[in-house]
Amino acid sequence: MKFGHFDDEAREYVIETPVTPYPWINYLGSEDFFSLISHTAGGYTFYKDAKMRRLTRYRYNDIPTDSGGRYFFINDGGDVWTPSWLPLKKDLDFFETRHGMGYTRITGERGGLRVSTLYFVPLGETAEVQKVTITNTSDEVKSFSLFSYLEFCLWNAQDDQTNYQRNLSIGEVEVEGSAIYHKTEYRERRDHYAVYGVNTEIAGFDTDRETFVGLYETLAEAKVPLAGKAENSMASGWYPIASHQVDSTLQPGESRDLVFVLGYVENNAENGEEKWADDAKQIINKNRARALLDRLSTTEAADAAFTALGEYWHELLSAYTVDSPDDKLNRMVNIWNQYQCMVTFNMSRSASYFETGIGRGMGFRDSTQDLLGFVHLIPDRARERILDIAATQLPDGSAYHQYQPLTKRGNNELGSGFNDDPAWLIIGVDGYLKETGDFDILDEIVPFDNNDDLAENLYTHLTRSFEFTLGNLGPHGLPLIGRADWNDCLNLNCFSTTPGESFQTTENQAGGVAESTFIAAQFVLAAGHYARIAAHRGDEVEAARARSAAEDMSQALLTHGWDGDWFLRAYDFYGNKVGTHEDTEGQIWIEPQGFAVLAGVGVEHNADGTPVVTSPAARALDSVDRLLGSEHGLVLQYPAYQSYRIELGEVSTYPPGYKENGGIFCHNNPWVIIGETVLGRGGRAFDDYRKITPAYREDISEVHRVEPYVYAQMIAGKEAKRHGEAKNSWLTGTAAWNFVAVSQYLLGVRTDYDGLVVDPQIGPDVPQFTVTRQARGATYVISVVNSGREGSRARLVVDGVPVSGRTVPYAPAGSVVRVQATL
Ligand code: GLC
Ligand code: GLC
Repeated sequence: MKFGHFDDEAREYVIETPVTPYPWINYLGSEDFFSLISHTAGGYTFYKDAKMRRLTRYRYNDIPTDSGGRYFFINDGGDVWTPSWLPLKKDLDFFETRHGMGYTRITGERGGLRVSTLYFVPLGETAEVQKVTITNTSDEVKSFSLFSYLEFCLWNAQDDQTNYQRNLSIGEVEVEGSAIYHKTEYRERRDHYAVYGVNTEIAGFDTDRETFVGLYETLAEAKVPLAGKAENSMASGWYPIASHQVDSTLQPGESRDLVFVLGYVENNAENGEEKWADDAKQIINKNRARALLDRLSTTEAADAAFTALGEYWHELLSAYTVDSPDDKLNRMVNIWNQYQCMVTFNMSRSASYFETGIGRGMGFRDSTQDLLGFVHLIPDRARERILDIAATQLPDGSAYHQYQPLTKRGNNELGSGFNDDPAWLIIGVDGYLKETGDFDILDEIVPFDNNDDLAENLYTHLTRSFEFTLGNLGPHGLPLIGRADWNDCLNLNCFSTTPGESFQTTENQAGGVAESTFIAAQFVLAAGHYARIAAHRGDEVEAARARSAAEDMSQALLTHGWDGDWFLRAYDFYGNKVGTHEDTEGQIWIEPQGFAVLAGVGVEHNADGTPVVTSPAARALDSVDRLLGSEHGLVLQYPAYQSYRIELGEVSTYPPGYKENGGIFCHNNPWVIIGETVLGRGGRAFDDYRKITPAYREDISEVHRVEPYVYAQMIAGKEAKRHGEAKNSWLTGTAAWNFVAVSQYLLGVRTDYDGLVVDPQIGPDVPQFTVTRQARGATYVISVVNSGREGSRARLVVDGVPVSGRTVPYAPAGSVVRVQATL
């Protein structure tokens, strides 16, 4: 069952009813100012950091699920309603929400008034614009009042939810003209405030929540809109809000635009602004706020900013496009998958409807993987991101697990000692080098642990990453797992017995010998990349050392990491096997299978170049298909753990079939998909791809529940009570890895050092397609005719000339290269 449809031309998902199976959200903002917005206008805004600079309030765990947002109330001759449906939930004659690239348009109509609000964050501004268009669709003159409403957060979102003894006394606002200023804590150490203005004269305002809503009322019963008259209340402590009353009279067919702006403003030495307009009276300096409101004070200005945003996205999304007979494939590749990659660039795992914005900052491993999905879109910002991340690395090559975006400093709140972290840096940098050819980045001097005294060049950071794994091997020559590897929940040294204690930060047991086959596979890939990087720098000795380390690790995996039909998952604290047929549960895990094969471990070729079907790699992926497969995707391991196993940690805390305990953890499905293409099995790869990809799941939205346009972290697995139900949409490494899988391996167009590799493996269902790829300033138009025969590989004709191999050499910037690929 569907609750809307894709409008590919407009690059929008159109939601046709307010009662979707879950709030379906979008993100606004692409630089420093961000908003989350649901299809019923819920959500919140922040500047740079969802924890430290939260502008507006949102209540997770609330009833109903999605309450708290920016709302407009209409009082039309006593009929009070909200065009976003929530919070009043009055029946609407028309409802539609269009989520597009960095904007959302919500339209509601009732009783002959149509109210359509376009929400977006203009490029270069630290503000959310809400352009409200009200149309009288009746044949009578209409006079009515509109009330805006949002609730301020007292900046630190965590403190805001916990420290009431202080916070209920500190709220302060100012009102000037049609602008409401939120200045809590500005009197002391803050140099910033928020402003909410509208480009017209107002009939009144409110800034005190109790006055506007009441104390015992819900937002749906808010007093001021019901009464139809603002109270001009001034907040003093308690709960500061902002509401404007705008009165209008419209002739039949007439429309009116209002431009509301919610902005963030700083006054400091950096921008040369005085803190106060009047220090004695503690009146804030509003120069920059007024300038901001002025810039956006007309419909034309708002429209121009919106057009610029559209051009920005058009430009971004032309870096990689596909034209195929499969609409779902086209819309995922051309629009939504890349869009989601940009959102993970901005958010990492911080703020969504499943991440509160206070728990997690930017993850070391998360952001380095996300990079693989956006490096082709914003190479310059990817460069900056790499340097920021590397600066938090510790001198021994290990890493803090996360850093705070505002300060860019690594912190211990989510711990450290996750032994997969170091190798991701190499994998991310490799992706950047292949995309850009900017090898100079390796000479950038970057601190360790954010300490300039410990700075070394980026290449040395990679060396430390490489050496970290080598210096932390266990009894079988496999990498020690530390606190955990990619799977945060495989905690082999933890042995936690205290309820509620975090598995990510509890003190580990000393003397562990627990080893990870996943890190082994990851190391094979990373060491291979590092070897090529070293060779490119002329460091042949180091390249040889890295190649031989990769080879040794590959052997260790095949010898000690092999269970007979698949790769083991680990050795535990006592040296016992994890992920073996000898166990009754958790016999086979997905991570080492997919990653080993994509890294080439156990892949064997016949004399004619075709893969050997009985190789360890082929057997491992056959076992994955047989044991982990389900109609909704590949589960993480099987059988799921039925009870808590202290020696395994968090993985066994989840009920069977959810999250890391046998859920379909979408992030690692693409590793298997890529692995299948390495084995030339494009048909199976594309089947696996379609099972978890949202556009293909749109028809079962009532089962899937979360947004049909972006990936979710998890779909409940085959042993779960709610198999097929997805959770944790948006902020997941699934976005980057699936884009890598589909663009580089299924469609088969990927950048390398010297050229573009063209090696499609998508099976028989996509008989022909064209990829247009911009790389290093040139455009490549690659037309593929695909027999779909298993194992068949592309023969290339470049600008009319047949070439051997599958690499199209880079052409000078500005040129257009035409490639014919036939399989
Ligand atoms: C979450 C984390 C990611 C981790 C994964 C598996 O998605 O963000 O870092 O690898 O879970 O535990
Ligand atoms: C839990 C989750 C995992 C996530 C981690 C981050 O372990 O299961 O997915 O990565 O928390 O803190």
